[in-house]
Amino acid sequence: MTHNNIVIFDTTLRDGEQSPGCSMNLEEKLKMAHLLDEMGVDVIEAGFPIASRGDYEAVEAISKILKNATVAGLSRATQKDIEATAAAIQSAQKRRIHTFISTSPLHMKYKLQMEPARVLEAIAESVSFARGLTDDVEWSAEDGSRTEDDFLCRCVETAIKAGATTINIPDTVGYAMPEDYAAKFIMLRERVPNIDRAILSVHCHNDLGLAVANSLAGVRAGARQIECTINGIGERAGNAALEEVVMAMRTRPDAMPYQNNIKTEMIMKASRTLSSITAFAVQPNKAIVGANAFAHESGIHQDGMLKHKGTYEIMTPESVGVTESNLVLGKHSGRNALKTKLKEMGYDLDDSTFDDAFRRFKDLADKKKEIFEEDLIVLIEGASHANEAIQFQSLVIQAGTKGPQIASIELMVDGDRKYAMSEGNGPVDAIFKAIRMIVPHDNAVLKLYQVHAVTGGTDAQAEVTVKIEEDGKTVVGQGSDTDTLVASGRAYIHAVNKLLDKRKRSLPPLNSMLI
Ligand code: KIV
Ligand code: ZN
Repeated sequence: MTHNNIVIFDTTLRDGEQSPGCSMNLEEKLKMAHLLDEMGVDVIEAGFPIASRGDYEAVEAISKILKNATVAGLSRATQKDIEATAAAIQSAQKRRIHTFISTSPLHMKYKLQMEPARVLEAIAESVSFARGLTDDVEWSAEDGSRTEDDFLCRCVETAIKAGATTINIPDTVGYAMPEDYAAKFIMLRERVPNIDRAILSVHCHNDLGLAVANSLAGVRAGARQIECTINGIGERAGNAALEEVVMAMRTRPDAMPYQNNIKTEMIMKASRTLSSITAFAVQPNKAIVGANAFAHESGIHQDGMLKHKGTYEIMTPESVGVTESNLVLGKHSGRNALKTKLKEMGYDLDDSTFDDAFRRFKDLADKKKEIFEEDLIVLIEGASHANEAIQFQSLVIQAGTKGPQIASIELMVDGDRKYAMSEGNGPVDAIFKAIRMIVPHDNAVLKLYQVHAVTGGTDAQAEVTVKIEEDGKTVVGQGSDTDTLVASGRAYIHAVNKLLDKRKRSLPPLNSMLI
């Protein structure tokens, strides 16, 4: 690695996933991990193995599929945590144990209730224990940006002496100003005698909207790893957004002359996949991946853009994978045309997945004359649901201003055909009630119902997202169709299938197995 290479450490599946509204199931985490690996992320923090059985299993499964990236698992400074991480990542080709402890006066006194001397001992013990299990060990000073300089120097020196190969200084509560954060790295590089034996890392939260600015300031001050998440998801106001730090380096090499391995053309795909999995919408004016990030609405701007793109565009939409809504296929397109187009878009499907996609493409083309790239993304990303216990069959709706709104639905439940009819406050309510009559889930509460038009036009596909919560556990379902009500029924059924799956899998936490 040359001196100016930046390690991109993605923690979407750990710091991102642990924030409210962003939880993912195993299949979804695997899908994201696969994408991040393909995109060129160097280190994927896959979870916190001791936290729950689900986390452990996800880290274990992700460890088996990564082709290029190093897998990392988080652990507190205890042997039990570190052993759980080591076990979960053991089958990975490249693995890292990430262990942390708080070092600020406030955290040591109130959270840990530990004296600084004991914290130093815990750092030496935990890092050397981890180093006995793997060669790649990252140590983090939680609340590092609010830690006193003298003590931080002693902690970092101790961690490196015990074998840490990466030293991370998080701005855990998003409190730092860019100059102060940079000064911490300069100070550490000047004062810690063995500092050259480790890579320094930034990890910034966005409570004051400074996560990206602080991360870049840390890099200019000598850090060579950035910890970040797709769409900036994470605790509270989130973490530094991967797409923003990466595009800042790519767009401003004069100010940020550093390299990284990210294939930026995959950024939009990663952003969309994550927001569709979690139903965590991206704000329209979000940098790089927001719907308006490359839109030019005002007359003056449009005029400037026509004369020279550089007038109002500092990076091209193509460089982050935004393509124009090109008409791509239609009713008469055959298997070959679909296969070629999907390949161009980066989807290389096996035969049976392709057959299923082709069948659904034909159904869609019967209802919608023009098929755009966005339609194909929804078609492919929306699982076929073929193996799910509850299958949508048909829907008849009575709606409008006269008389009650009534839904009659037909489902297959474990192979048996079932029918229900319900009135409701509007057709969507009637559909959901009818589904509840067939598959009771009285304790579940609907938390979100969201409709998004995939393209323009009145024949556009509607993509519906629903989120339901039962006993503190949340699931997200999605459905798409040119008929918004059919899409709503499909989305709700998708969520109920996931709920049933979650009930089946709700096993005791890993902690209780280890004790
Ligand atoms: O924000 C933080 O301090 C963290 C550490 C556990 C790395 O996420
Ligand atoms: Zn964090």
